[in-house]
Amino acid sequence: MTPTDAEMLREYERCRELVDSKLEECFLSDGIPHKGLAEAMRYSLLAGGKRIRPVLVLQFCRACGGDEERALPSACAVEMLHTYSLIHDDLPCMDDDDLRRGRPANHIVFGECTATLAGDALQAEAFSLLLSSALPADRVVRMAAYLAEAAGLSGICGGQALDIDGEGKDLGEGEISEIHRYKTAALLKACALIGVSAAGGTEEQIGSASRYAEALGLAFQIRDDVLDCTADEKQLGKTIGSDAGRDKSTFVSLYGVERCRELVRRKTEEAQRALTGCFDDCGFLVWLAGYLAERTA
Ligand code: IPE
Ligand code: IPE
Ligand code: MG
Ligand code: MG
Ligand code: MG
Repeated sequence: MTPTDAEMLREYERCRELVDSKLEECFLSDGIPHKGLAEAMRYSLLAGGKRIRPVLVLQFCRACGGDEERALPSACAVEMLHTYSLIHDDLPCMDDDDLRRGRPANHIVFGECTATLAGDALQAEAFSLLLSSALPADRVVRMAAYLAEAAGLSGICGGQALDIDGEGKDLGEGEISEIHRYKTAALLKACALIGVSAAGGTEEQIGSASRYAEALGLAFQIRDDVLDCTADEKQLGKTIGSDAGRDKSTFVSLYGVERCRELVRRKTEEAQRALTGCFDDCGFLVWLAGYLAERTA
């Protein structure tokens, strides 16, 4: 490990801890009508996870000179929304996976009905938390709009619908890229833009952050597809072979693992280049893209 790696990993860990300690406080109040539902939400939310989406929010805010503390509610909001998408993604009517974040999936522990509602509630609570941000109202409205777009028809839901429809079909590169763009890259892009907006960043920074996150999002999902067939199940914390088991078209089924590694490298470099000249200090964001390209979980 180089000294830079060690420093960057410490910074990553610092952000993760900020996020984790705020999430730890959520859904504990006395007034909650159904404690079991809150327990199911906390089960998945606090199960670990890389927290890269909230880290992107905090780091884009920082790169634009913003106040990290004020971006923290929106950072935690994107993690809630992401966690909802994972709970639903594992349901029997979707990927039907039993293992998530190294633990039995939400529906295995709490049942399908509670898991569905836990996802629904996490999505609504995400917006509630984001809207509580102590930032100028015009920024908060913009941040909420980014999150809504990434979650809906032109985001996760649209992408997941395409993903499920594509099972058993031989999709081409264009179709698979489209699925990855909606189901995965859309939320990563929203995270980057929420971070820039929390800091009141410029149009140029919005453009640069968009290009970074679009390329990073594709690289991230291709890496996920590679790990689905090469990783160690214990280390990954998810079922291996899920994609092949459901006859999904992925970059791996299309091009094989080696070409995918090359594609991840190319898209990562594209992401890194997109940041050039737009931020005072984007060293962490450049490092993060490279780190995620090599991740093993
Ligand atoms: C998994 O996301 C779903 C994809 C979009 C590939 P992550 O790999 O970020 O999962 P966690 O949050 O670390 O569990
Ligand atoms: C799902 O992609 C992305 C989401 C929107 C949740 P995958 O189905 O490949 O994610 P994993 O591998 O189950 O985490
Ligand atoms: Mg899926
Ligand atoms: Mg899945
Ligand atoms: Mg996967």
